[in-house]
Amino acid sequence: MGEERLEGLLEENRVFKPGAEFQAQAAVQEGKVYEEAESDRLGFWGKAAERLSWFRPWEKVLEWEPPFAQWYVGGKLNASYNCIDRHLAGWRRNKAAIIFEGEHGDSRVLTYQNLYREVNKFANVLKSLGVEKGDRVTIYLPMIPEAAIAMLACARIGAPHSVVFGGFSAEALRDRINDAQAKVLITSDGSFRRGSVVPLKENADTALAGAGSVEHVIVVQRTGSEVHMQEGRDLWYHEQMQKAAVECPPEEMDAEDMLFILYTSGTTGKPKGVVHTTGGYMVGVSTTHEWIFDLKEEDVYWCTADVGWITGHSYIVYGPLANGATVVMYEGTPDYPAKDRFWEIVEKYRVTILYTAPTAIRTFMKWGPSYPESRDLSSLRVLGTVGEPINPEAWIWYHTYIGRERCPIVDTWWQTETGMIMMAPLPGLTDLKPGSCTVPFPGVKVEVVDHDGQPVPKGSGGYLVVREPWPAMLRTVYGDNDRYVQTYWGNWPGIYFTGDGAKWDQDGYFWVLGRVDDVINVSGHRIGTAEVESALVDHPAVAEAACIGKNHEVKGQAVAAFVTLKEGVETRNGLVDELKAHVAKKIGALARPDDIFFTAELPKTRSGKIMRRLLRDIAEGRALGDTTTLADASVVQTLKEQYQE
Ligand code: WTA
Repeated sequence: MGEERLEGLLEENRVFKPGAEFQAQAAVQEGKVYEEAESDRLGFWGKAAERLSWFRPWEKVLEWEPPFAQWYVGGKLNASYNCIDRHLAGWRRNKAAIIFEGEHGDSRVLTYQNLYREVNKFANVLKSLGVEKGDRVTIYLPMIPEAAIAMLACARIGAPHSVVFGGFSAEALRDRINDAQAKVLITSDGSFRRGSVVPLKENADTALAGAGSVEHVIVVQRTGSEVHMQEGRDLWYHEQMQKAAVECPPEEMDAEDMLFILYTSGTTGKPKGVVHTTGGYMVGVSTTHEWIFDLKEEDVYWCTADVGWITGHSYIVYGPLANGATVVMYEGTPDYPAKDRFWEIVEKYRVTILYTAPTAIRTFMKWGPSYPESRDLSSLRVLGTVGEPINPEAWIWYHTYIGRERCPIVDTWWQTETGMIMMAPLPGLTDLKPGSCTVPFPGVKVEVVDHDGQPVPKGSGGYLVVREPWPAMLRTVYGDNDRYVQTYWGNWPGIYFTGDGAKWDQDGYFWVLGRVDDVINVSGHRIGTAEVESALVDHPAVAEAACIGKNHEVKGQAVAAFVTLKEGVETRNGLVDELKAHVAKKIGALARPDDIFFTAELPKTRSGKIMRRLLRDIAEGRALGDTTTLADASVVQTLKEQYQE
């Protein structure tokens, strides 16, 4: 598991200590928070919850009937109230909540007061369309302020949202709408991407042909493209907003009421609807956001993720806004119109905290330091990364050229399911080791265990697990408690399995090695091998397919597919491209395989299980591992020879 990664890590053994100046001003300066949380975990989380505004206080911090947790039992609150209303009492009402930067350089600033108005009005629009507490709403939007407004409006009236990343295909959108049985879909006339327009509304129309639950579609005008509006079903956002009343009282939600569903890939073809609730999630994301990014009132915080992913939910919308932060939101890509776009934005808004992904950093490395060097990055003071293991080389580059050797880097490990960051340094306290996400957050119990669920000694590797429930944990898989229990708690009773492999070192630092299940991490995005395989098999020429994640210099991993064609079908010119396009159409461009390789047979065990490990060896040109369990060992030998040709 991830041996290649470990080799790379051994070469870099420098330790970076917090600078004295940084330490002196840090949000958390004393290591005793770890001991306090360790000795009274629930007391720690009880105290953390006081940071929120509750309509009614909770009676009990945790009710734990493994694997079902209830946090802050009996407490009542509203997430949108916590993100907006409570900041209006004082000077913060005129503070920038969202600074939006459009792809074309257009800019829009929403103060907390502005945000209040927009969210309230949109909540009233939803209500006028019959959306009630508990109804699901699907959001399929670009990175524009309306995405955050829509999420917060749903939270305000207690309607769980399901945000679907704008890069997903019509079919992927349809499946997610159907699984959630959404009543309303919010989309836009299109989304800008490198100067052209992605037809989101057209995708939505295709999706809706097979999604009967949706009664209304609300369309935000962003690109001005011509779109078809279905009479009686489709409504323009701006027209509805004009009519909407300005006050919409926040719904009193139970701490355990659902806040949102977010779909993520797992080891089967069907994406899982990860369910997050209100109280624990809000406590978890706001506490971690303040402590890990060392948030100050005057910070300008920019997380470059899309709101369609968990990082956007927790660390663009709910965590930062609950903390009254100023959040930069950027619509476009890092290379449009030029490769210094990110650094131009840092310079323009004097960004102080930047949170991005290793794949982006490796892309910047490839482009060379001249782009960041041409801009003033002196405002930056904290850097973060998330989504996949960061290789030490990229860490050092980030530290040198972006942080100018001045900014601590917080490498944050977490998942859609964990809701909040679980492992990361506290930048005023923790010594940094490039490539390690360092140690668990106070009050979080992470371990590396062996096959039997027993902790491994320091210096060894195994499976990464979480020992104790945590506030922002997922509560279930939407509509499928069995799958929740099986997937996450089925290996060892009472222990949450992350799906990752990891090592912890002599100092107790964690080194995440990557997924040990059939999930591929492409540019920080989780893609199930089974999803890509079923998309391939859906093509009329394909009999069988096996996908693997192959190491990739920039993306971390890339999808490689081994495909067996149907009897009588010959390979032909263009078939590879056709299959790649087919996957993109079924799932979205992010799942498009880099390589497709045709083979007469796939290596299988006697019980018929495809040996993906061997395929990975072949694709990465390594010596073949153990082949003794194969039904027919010659298959893999032939395959290897063919592949090398
Ligand atoms: C990987 C993203 C190493 C890991 C927030 C995890 C990481 C999966 C890190 C979750 C990190 C995320 N170091 N690996 N700092 N952060 N991962 O659900 O494999 O999109 O299980 O959540 O990304 O991906 P997800």
